[in-house]
Amino acid sequence: MRFPAEPFRIKVVEPLRRVERSERERLIREAGLNIFAVPADSIYVDLLTDSGTSAMSDRQWAALMMGDESYAGSRNFYHFEAAVRAIFGYRHVIPTHQGRVAENLLFSTILKPGDVVPNNIHFDTTRANVEHQKAEAVDLVIDEGLDPRADHPFKGNLDPAKLERVLRDQAGKVPLVMLTITNNSGGGQPVSMANVRAVREVCQRHRVPLIFDACRFAENCWFIQQREPGYANKRVGDIARELFTLGDGCTMSAKKDGLVNIGGFLALNDADWTERITNLLILIEGFPTYGGLAGRDLEAMARGLEEVLDEDYLTFRINQVAHLGARLDEAGVPIVKPVGGHAVYIDAKRMLPHIPQSQYPGQALVVALYREFGVRAVEVGGLMFGHIDPTTGQMVWPALELVRLAVPRRVYTTEHMRYVADSVIQLHRERDRLRGLRIVHEAPVLRHFTARLEELEGAAVAGAATR
Ligand SMILES: Cc1ncc(COP(=O)(O)O)c(C=O)c1O
Repeated sequence: MRFPAEPFRIKVVEPLRRVERSERERLIREAGLNIFAVPADSIYVDLLTDSGTSAMSDRQWAALMMGDESYAGSRNFYHFEAAVRAIFGYRHVIPTHQGRVAENLLFSTILKPGDVVPNNIHFDTTRANVEHQKAEAVDLVIDEGLDPRADHPFKGNLDPAKLERVLRDQAGKVPLVMLTITNNSGGGQPVSMANVRAVREVCQRHRVPLIFDACRFAENCWFIQQREPGYANKRVGDIARELFTLGDGCTMSAKKDGLVNIGGFLALNDADWTERITNLLILIEGFPTYGGLAGRDLEAMARGLEEVLDEDYLTFRINQVAHLGARLDEAGVPIVKPVGGHAVYIDAKRMLPHIPQSQYPGQALVVALYREFGVRAVEVGGLMFGHIDPTTGQMVWPALELVRLAVPRRVYTTEHMRYVADSVIQLHRERDRLRGLRIVHEAPVLRHFTARLEELEGAAVAGAATR
C-alpha cells in the first residue's frame, strides 16, 4: 500500500537527535517509566500528541509579524472573531490560551455539585473539569464505539437512546450535553451529521443545550464528506457550518484543528452564560480581546482555522494516519478500526493478553516503544482513566486499553511513518517478552501525567539489540 505524498514542501528544518538505546534505557528509568517525563530532545519520532505540535505555514509565521499587542481591542482579535464566526456561527467568541481553560470557564460557571454531563466520551481534561465541580461525567457513546473490532463508519456517535434515558432519569440535573468531534478517547472516531441531528432532537425536547468539543472539527467534517450519504459533493467548510448550526456553542482547543502551537476559545450563543464566563475570564485569563494570548497568536489561529479546511491538506493528513494504521494492520498488529482522524490506536489488551489490565499493558508497550526505538506514544487506558469509585471504593477500569500514536499535523514525513510502523511491528513480534508494571506514586487527579511506575519482578525487556 502506498503512503500519500505531502501537499507541501519543507522550508525550515528542525534537526532530530538520535540517542543510543543505553541512554534511552537510563532516561525512561529516571522518568519513573512515565513517558511524559522524558526530555523531548531525546525522542526520535514524537507521537505523544497531535496537540500544539503542528507545523505552522509560511502564512501563519508571517502573521506573527502582524501582531497588534494592544491590551484592548487588538485588530487580531477582530480578525480571529470573524474567522470563528464564519465557520462556527456562534455569536460570542471568547479566546482562551487552550482548550481546558474553555472547559473550566464553562463548567465552573454552569455546573453545580451533583449535576450530570453526558458526552460521547469525555476527554481526560473534560472529565477532570466536570468532576472538579463535583458533577458527574457520563459517557454515552454507541456500543460499537467501545468495541475496538467493530467496523462502523461513525464510531464516535452518541447513543440517542442512552441520552434519552439519562435526561429522563436525571431531569433537572443536566445543564448541558457535550459532543466531542472527533471522539479522541474512543479512538479519534467521527460523529455523523445524522447523529448530531438525533442528539440535537433529544436535547431540544428536554430543553438542554448542546455544546461541541470541537478540537478536531475539520477532520470530523472530512469524514462526513467521505462517508455519509448526501455529503460527497459538499465542501468540508460548508459541512462544518451546517454541523455547528445544530448546537448552541463549542469549546475548542485550537492546538489541534486550529493548526497553532497554543490557543483555544469558547464560542456561545447564550448572552447570559457569555457575560458570566467573561467576568471569570477577566479574573483568570485576561481581557476579553486577548484571553491569555498575544495578538500574534490570535492572528496565527485565525489563519490556521482557514487553512485547516483546505481539502488537499485534510485528504493528505487523514490518509497519512490511515496508511500508518493499514501497515500495522497488514502485519497483524491489533488496532482500533476503522483508523481515526488524528491517530492510530493499538489495542494493548489484544496485543498483550498475558498482561492483565491491572498491570498497565498499554503503558508497558509505551515504555518498550521508547526504550527500543526512540518513538514516543501515549497510553489511553488504565493509567489514564483507572480510578476508585467513590461510592463502592472499588477500582474501576476503562473498557478500552489503548496506545495512541498521534500524528502531529504537517510535521513528519512518510519515511518517519514507515519507521514507526516498522518499530511497532518489531515489538509485536517480540510481544511475549513484555511484562506488566505497577504504580509507585500517583497524583489525585490526571495521574498519568506525573505517575511513577516500576516493572514487575521478572520483567523481561523486548529487543535486546542496540538500535
Ligand atoms: C477532545 C479534547 N478535548 C479537550 C482537550 C483539551 O485541550 P488543551 O490541551 O488545549 O487544553 C483535548 C486535548 O488534547 C482534546 O483532545
